[in-house]
Amino acid sequence: MAKTGPAPQPGILEISPYVPGESSAPGGVTPIKLSSNETPLGPSPQAVAAYKALADELHRYPDGGAVVLRNAIAQRYGLDAERIVCGCGSDELINLLAHAYLGPGDEAISTEHGFLMYRIATLSSGGKPVAVPETAYRADVDAILARATAKTKIVFLANPNNPTGTYLSHGQVRRLREGLPSQTLLVLDAAYSEYVRRNDYEAGLELVATTDNTVMTRTFSKIYGLAALRLGWAYCPAAVADVLNRVRGPFNVTAPAIAAGVAALEDRAHVEAAVAHNDTWLPWISDEIGKLGLDVTPSVGNFVLIHFPKARDRDAAAADGFLKARGIILRRLAAYGLPGALRMTIGTEDDNHKVVAALGAFLGRS
Ligand SMILES: Cc1ncc(COP(=O)(O)O)c(C=O)c1O
Repeated sequence: MAKTGPAPQPGILEISPYVPGESSAPGGVTPIKLSSNETPLGPSPQAVAAYKALADELHRYPDGGAVVLRNAIAQRYGLDAERIVCGCGSDELINLLAHAYLGPGDEAISTEHGFLMYRIATLSSGGKPVAVPETAYRADVDAILARATAKTKIVFLANPNNPTGTYLSHGQVRRLREGLPSQTLLVLDAAYSEYVRRNDYEAGLELVATTDNTVMTRTFSKIYGLAALRLGWAYCPAAVADVLNRVRGPFNVTAPAIAAGVAALEDRAHVEAAVAHNDTWLPWISDEIGKLGLDVTPSVGNFVLIHFPKARDRDAAAADGFLKARGIILRRLAAYGLPGALRMTIGTEDDNHKVVAALGAFLGRS
């Protein structure tokens, strides 16, 4: 008898597992890890204290409703706590949205170089991922609208996008929403919104408030420096919050994460310091790397997309090897359709100087 084993659902084996940014350098060198868009300032000391304070309570289940955290978020942003759903990272919320709103035959649009989790979540839900071309590494509203059909159940838009660092203005996002079918859920992933310093940008609160088919997701992993705790939240129309609360695990957010999240929200000075740091070093890094003759896509996030020449000894793979040998870890982007580029997270002052010096040495400039 032919041997048969359990077969996963259609689509699952089409998934290339997500490969996180690397975290170790060869030869035991202490790495400068700039591969995962983590904050160079670390977590708020107040969040660390709140986390530690729960060490003797690990036998207790967390509050499944994460009420104090939802109330703290609601107060901070002026929102309705009932419409906030917390998750184990915003990754979980992206997955839950896909599971709840996509089935076989349904399509989910994301953009050419969009965040990889959208494709993974779509395939794991039995849906069909549709990648729409970008223009100059930026989401193209007209291209998305041209591709949207009655089968399009979700449009995932990271704004700003990772790994390109580009963004769409509020007017463009509104135009996207207005042009999409009403049954299409628009998911605005605002993981990097706190870093954006543009007057025409809006993270998504306004559209969630004024439409019944837009969701905004946020994370504590980036500017709040709590990536290890896995904490994200979504602001939703009431009906979508209700759906997410039906499908999420009853204790999907841990008690230490809830406590640290509340403390991190209260430490406004820490967030302001992170914004100020980025305001200084994002332009500096972009300029200095540009002066070396490399193209840097203009970014509004806490990272930059660096394009390398095609010549074999000067390309992104060679640069990555050269930097790694010096303990500097950036992000390779072949999985994002960007094999000729590396993504660099803005680091500490010292990290940033070391990367520029190392890239100069790589290019034979010093
Ligand atoms: C655009 C975007 N969305 C979501 C996430 C996931 O964040 P979290 O740590 O909250 O799961 C990331 C992390 O890199 C991201 O870049």
